[in-house]
Amino acid sequence: MGESVWYITTPIYYPSDSLHVGHAYTTVAADALARYHRLVGDRVLFVTGTDEHGQKIQKKALEKGQKPLEFVTPIVKFIRDPLWKRLGISYDDFIRTTEDRHRHVVQQIFQRLVEQGDIYKGIYEGWYCLPDESYWTESKLVDGNCPDCGRPVEKVTQESYFFRLSHYQNRLHQYILDHPEFIQPTSRRHEMLNFIEAGLEDLSVSRMGVSWGIPVPGDPDHVIYVWFDALTNYLTAAGYLHDTDLFQSAWPANVHLVGKEIVRFHTVIWPIILMALDLPLPDRVFGHGWLLIGQAKMGKSLGNAVDPVELFDRYGVDPLRHYLLREVPFGADGSYTEAALVLRTNVDLANDLGNLLSRTTAMIDRFHQGTVPSLDVGSDDGVLAKEAALVYREVETFMNNLAISDALTSIFRLINRANKYIEEQKPWDLAKRHDGVALDNVLYGLWETLRIVSVLLTPFLLEAPNRIRKQLGLTEPVLQYREALFGFNPSGLSVRREGPLFPRIEWKESVTAGDDTDHAIGVEDFRKLDFRVGTIRTAEIVPGADRLLKLTVFDGSRDRTIVSGIRLHYAPADLIGQQVVVVANLKPATFKGIVSEGMLLAGSHEGELSLVAPIRPLPEGAPVK
Ligand code: MSP
Repeated sequence: MGESVWYITTPIYYPSDSLHVGHAYTTVAADALARYHRLVGDRVLFVTGTDEHGQKIQKKALEKGQKPLEFVTPIVKFIRDPLWKRLGISYDDFIRTTEDRHRHVVQQIFQRLVEQGDIYKGIYEGWYCLPDESYWTESKLVDGNCPDCGRPVEKVTQESYFFRLSHYQNRLHQYILDHPEFIQPTSRRHEMLNFIEAGLEDLSVSRMGVSWGIPVPGDPDHVIYVWFDALTNYLTAAGYLHDTDLFQSAWPANVHLVGKEIVRFHTVIWPIILMALDLPLPDRVFGHGWLLIGQAKMGKSLGNAVDPVELFDRYGVDPLRHYLLREVPFGADGSYTEAALVLRTNVDLANDLGNLLSRTTAMIDRFHQGTVPSLDVGSDDGVLAKEAALVYREVETFMNNLAISDALTSIFRLINRANKYIEEQKPWDLAKRHDGVALDNVLYGLWETLRIVSVLLTPFLLEAPNRIRKQLGLTEPVLQYREALFGFNPSGLSVRREGPLFPRIEWKESVTAGDDTDHAIGVEDFRKLDFRVGTIRTAEIVPGADRLLKLTVFDGSRDRTIVSGIRLHYAPADLIGQQVVVVANLKPATFKGIVSEGMLLAGSHEGELSLVAPIRPLPEGAPVK
């Protein structure tokens, strides 16, 4: 037996239209998991592909006056390149159900199930939902429509082959009870148990009058039901019946990642096919949530699909991947908005990560002539080393549980711990005091944290890890997860500063004219104001000005000097460490010879004045709008 392979799949997508951000969501998630497992040293088989048969595709092709294969081929080509290529989808195999290798496997399986009596011929009378390619009995319809998607169904009465689901009902039910990890998250497991308890009817697994599909062996008037054909791709790609070595090491699959609407196919029909073939079941079927636009699922049929290639062109691969992987807890539904993508990029990537890198490399440049100090063992306070060790283990646990967004959140907690560490340690003061050992340890700790972050981020982001490493003076790409352990010896390395890791994105949402009156400003005018969260670092009296205080306010990227007319209302010492809202894009103005680079927001009432602050602390630089 070969070395065991960690096998992960995505659904194979219908090439009936171009794919949208919802499809990219599943595929990027599977890619991050695959990359993570490669990094920890697993041999990985990551498979995606296209589900090309069926009535829906046949109909679409006909409408275009094309043969089905002619119709799908350019769409499939586009999915592979540019779509998956640009998003860095590192699949090991891309399976098309129109390939010969797949047709052979499907036909052999079908034949075997006929021979052993699990598939038999009968008459189907019922309903068919064409967009979902699913069969429904009269009693399951809701208001005469498909109970899953609500769209109209068509009546079908014809000779058909049936798959004996009923025969396996109890076995499947017991299996799910005995294997709590098989269907995840748990809510989907409960749904499926209820569905099975309501009783499984034998499933029609062939169609007549549909020419676009894999013919039933020896009975070519029937083509095999597209879902039977599609699910089998997971066996074909694992080498079943044609590559014994691969199959022995790859099957059963570790994870089938699917959207929640197709969990039923993967946890009822699919395991029963496998049981009938005497094959072990996959370890996990994980049904993730939907990306929504407003309240509705993003999808072609609703006309609210967002093109991932456009987003890639506008924002680049890492902001897009980071947003998809981080924004929504994996498993739950979540709203997609472009504004949130911009915000995540500006706050997490540009601000938290980008600034940590630029501040660290700048300080190593300034205080250590650019060479990376080594750790003076024993004199480090261990704050960052401890946090890094914790995050290292958390990321492992989260990734093993497919909690992808939690893993990223942990990594950013480490990044923010390091940002806070700079404020606590004040390397500039250590330099002034010529405290070389302490300064070296702080600088080393920051550098080392960034190196670790570059390792930890490798499964998620494609370009940033190597760009971080380059600035840190590292030349080797990340090869192993274990490199994320604290204590690397940087002797002889020098930092190489470059421009910002992630430039801030200026966000301009196009706004159509509303019912603005003469005195109201449009939202586009309001958006011209750049309000940001800042933290007051120093506050001092301005000699000769009884109303003014001179403040320095850190705005996420730098310290700004702000002269503010609040002296009568606040004692300088009380202001230090307070968060405030800075108007960041005012033209500088001079007061008493001091250039003020912005204003603070404050409310006033009958001579009383109060600075405006976020109710809960926010990272400096977070936009206020
Ligand atoms: N061809 C079948 C799957 C066969 S698998 C043996 C199919 N294809 S599909 O093109 O409709 O893709 C469905 C999958 O795309 C979903 O299961 C999900 O993974 C992804 N998504 C499509 N729209 C989505 C959202 N709005 N949100 C999240 N994922 C979405 O079904």
